Amino acid sequence: MRPLQQSHRLESLCEQARQSQWSVDTDIDWSLEVPFSSSLPDDSFSSRGALNDSPFAGSRRPLWDAFRWELQSWLACQFLHGERAALTASARLAESLPIAAARQCAAAQAIDEARHTAAFSRYIREQVRAPYSVKAAIDAPLRQAVERGSWDMTMLATQVILEPLAVAAFRIANTSLHDPLIRQIVGLVARDEPRHVSFGIVVLKEVYGELTAVELAEREEFIMEVVAQMSECFLLPEVWKRLGIRDADGIRFAATHPMMVTYRQTLFTRIIASLTRIGVMTPRVRDRFATLNLIGPGGARAGLTLE
Ligand SMILES: [Fe+2]
Ligand SMILES: [Fe+2]
Repeated sequence: MRPLQQSHRLESLCEQARQSQWSVDTDIDWSLEVPFSSSLPDDSFSSRGALNDSPFAGSRRPLWDAFRWELQSWLACQFLHGERAALTASARLAESLPIAAARQCAAAQAIDEARHTAAFSRYIREQVRAPYSVKAAIDAPLRQAVERGSWDMTMLATQVILEPLAVAAFRIANTSLHDPLIRQIVGLVARDEPRHVSFGIVVLKEVYGELTAVELAEREEFIMEVVAQMSECFLLPEVWKRLGIRDADGIRFAATHPMMVTYRQTLFTRIIASLTRIGVMTPRVRDRFATLNLIGPGGARAGLTLE
């Protein structure tokens, strides 16, 4: 790996972070009503169009709406678990990155992640009746990366894989989730996350400029492992269990229905773009994305630079 150098780009990212702070208490309107379990309109991402091909086909409409609310609860909990993991990872990076400007950026990110954690934590505490546990959550690979103790792997999992996925998920959530409070929270959080992604890309693009074959293979393995684990979370086994749907039926729907496939591909397109920018979207990694059916038209375009 090439050594990391001081750069103006890192200093400017730190400065942007200092100027972009917002408050969980005063910038979010906590009095907004969250009508959990109410019937939902047909105008959102998970609209009635998908009902007929779902495990709920033949059942009454309220069960379909229950699924849509349950999916929102699951997502809000994944957002919280992801934010907590990003907080741990950025705090760890604030002590382990090799140069001062990068450590300062990581410390600024930790402040952002603490704010994001507080916002989702309050939403779940006050609004979600039955939160989903951290077990089998989307942040599991990230926690493993932190435990490995290698700062570049921690950055790879956090800023280049989890956070681009979060940016995409927040953008979709901002228009498709079912209450104005969660939409306001994800809108604010989504303002900070692209800065964290840029931080990871600036650092890793430089140090990955000179990887040995062994170093590259190790990172390819790690990326493929993390992406497979994250993709598997979106098969939603915990949601099917809670709704009394047979595991096999629920997982088949999540794995194959065009609405669910498109959703996953849209999320993972951002990861493909980030991996491409730091030079590790190799043919081997691309094959794994393709096997997992994570490359849609956007993902194909995002990786064009390597073809
Ligand atoms: Fe965050
Ligand atoms: Fe973040």
